[in-house]
Amino acid sequence: MSADSQDPRGNRRVLSGMRPTGKLHLGHYHGVLRNWVRMQEDYSCFYFVADWHALTTHYDDPETMDRHVWDMVIDWLAAGVDPQKATLFIQSHVPEHAELHLLLSMVTPLGWLERVPSFKDQQERLREKDLATYGFLGYPLLQSADILMYRAAHVPVGEDQVPHVELTREIARRFNHFFGRSPEFEEEMAAAIRQMGKKAAKTYRLLRQAFTEQGDREALEQARALVEAQQNLDRSRKDGLLGYLEGRGVTLLPEPAALLTESAKMLGLDGQKMSKSYDNAIYLRDDPARVEQAIRVMPTDPARVRLTDPGEPEKCPVWEFHKVYSSRDTRDWVEDGCRKAAFGCLECKKPLIGSVLEEQSAIRERALPYEKNPDLVREVIADGDRRARAEACETMEIVRKSVGTVYR
Ligand code: TRP
Ligand code: SF4
Repeated sequence: MSADSQDPRGNRRVLSGMRPTGKLHLGHYHGVLRNWVRMQEDYSCFYFVADWHALTTHYDDPETMDRHVWDMVIDWLAAGVDPQKATLFIQSHVPEHAELHLLLSMVTPLGWLERVPSFKDQQERLREKDLATYGFLGYPLLQSADILMYRAAHVPVGEDQVPHVELTREIARRFNHFFGRSPEFEEEMAAAIRQMGKKAAKTYRLLRQAFTEQGDREALEQARALVEAQQNLDRSRKDGLLGYLEGRGVTLLPEPAALLTESAKMLGLDGQKMSKSYDNAIYLRDDPARVEQAIRVMPTDPARVRLTDPGEPEKCPVWEFHKVYSSRDTRDWVEDGCRKAAFGCLECKKPLIGSVLEEQSAIRERALPYEKNPDLVREVIADGDRRARAEACETMEIVRKSVGTVYR
């Protein structure tokens, strides 16, 4: 996965959030967290607790939020998310998210929100809740604010969240369209061009002209490279010049892209989607004895009544675990032995119990200092809040100026 090839601007900022649902399970770990851990090596990552998002659907349950937030952050750290490498923060600690959400709402057509698939889906799925609320309708826009606030290029999400990133792109475009045409804009661009120095400035102007007047794409590419190579232009000036190349106004808020990362699909103990509400989950910091017992009693292919009855791995939830945890050799052993009834299901589960417990022992070890001293977790978050807030303040300065709410 090469970030540069995906984003011509070379923006390596990643943003992702998770609702504080409490203790995380192996589904979260294999589906999301392992990607977060991997990405922190290559990108500048911002990971946050989406507590306001949780309120859009769970506003009737305020007592649990505090515990859920800290349990989840400890799970992140336990999974290997490294606060030296990534910025971890809590959404509501950066109230600028609310301000940006509000300002974006001014130019967001109602229809765009009503059309987001999760709007109707969730209302139907969570029938027992009243989700005909303003907050629930607006939550994808809150997500847009989360993303645009950090001018993120990449948003690692699952399939179900792709429409939200798509909405974010449309919102960014609309916002830039309305507010990116200040009278000072041409002046700002001229200043940025001058800043490149005489020779580069001249080249930039010629290349821009070749693209805007003759549609010369080669010239566009050359001009992009030229802008990126400028040492003395900061990111926002570069972004401005890149947008200007194509005849756009100021790129106040750059458009993000969804990053569909490859991740293992981890099913639950019963073969359904792993979920707390289905009571089929193994938690990241689960008790080893409970884990072992849970796997021992996992249902298997119902055809295997007796030891001598052959089975079919594809009909067995245990096999789904092997797909995530076992080596090629072990998987071959399982497939062969299951179909030939060479061993019983308990035998088949043994290597799995070993692998899950081994994985969890490393996780539990990383969690230990934080469990012992909760102040450490709060420090991690306080530090992340500060870093996030500094970024957010920078964005909001641009945004406030653009929408005209800065008075001298
Ligand atoms: N909406 C996401 C979810 O329900 C969480 C989320 C909120 C998010 N803001 C985000 C994810 C920004 C990625 C980027 O899972
Ligand atoms: Fe499932 Fe393994 Fe039993 Fe086959 S042998 S049914 S894969 S547990």
